[in-house]
Amino acid sequence: MSINIAIIGGTGVYDPNILTDITEEKVDTPYGSIKVKVGSYQGKRVAFMARHGENHSVAPHLINYRANIWGLHLLGVKNIFATAAVGSINTDMKPKDFVFIDQFLDFTKNRPQTFVEQGVIHLDMTTPYCPRLRQVLIDAAEKMGLPYHQTGTYVCMEGPRFETPAEIRMLRQLGGDVVGMTSVPEVVLAREAEMCYATIVMVTNFAAGISLNSLSHQEVVGVMNENVQNFRGLVMEAITAVDEQADCGCQHLPESPSAVK
Ligand code: HPA
Repeated sequence: MSINIAIIGGTGVYDPNILTDITEEKVDTPYGSIKVKVGSYQGKRVAFMARHGENHSVAPHLINYRANIWGLHLLGVKNIFATAAVGSINTDMKPKDFVFIDQFLDFTKNRPQTFVEQGVIHLDMTTPYCPRLRQVLIDAAEKMGLPYHQTGTYVCMEGPRFETPAEIRMLRQLGGDVVGMTSVPEVVLAREAEMCYATIVMVTNFAAGISLNSLSHQEVVGVMNENVQNFRGLVMEAITAVDEQADCGCQHLPESPSAVK
């Protein structure tokens, strides 16, 4: 049976234990090899990848995003649900709220963002996150009675440091709602590979300067851990509800990068 669904687990989501019959697959890509756990949930085949490695050993700016996305593409994955911890810039979005982001602002500096190294492709980025998968997540959050926001603009910073309060003030003026370090280029590469991609973002903290305390990775992980059951529930509900065979616009770009075909 083909593997149509993947979960990319971010900070605090390292455990594929909702799946049964788990095997580990190594996938070789032109960018290096990746390890993915593959299992089943409700009769659907699902791949699980820990974005930062199993022991959270890979920093956001050093993640091999191209190998990760190309590897999932080679496995046949068409639908990706990613998870991510974020700081909140918009004070309506509180710790433990879920945000189904629909836009991003890219402040990364040093990451390859394309598979296309010959020829020129200017990828349309009007709808970076798949509206169909976002609706699946919105419906799941509604059904579970979780606090959520239907839309949001994710600011991706290079990291690995947290932001200064001055940066957060600037990002708020630019329209950012939440800030993290991983959605770009992951979402961009998934789009290039014509895969549907959506992110379950959870606020772990108010961003620097909004929070009166200094920030720590421990705090972020701690809040994720407190809410891991809700994360797991959302993922399970989304896998159950998603039509894994759906033919979606994300899978047919007008100008598709031939390198990925
Ligand atoms: N900034 C950047 N990344 C983050 C934050 C933050 O405040 N919280 C969780 N990931």
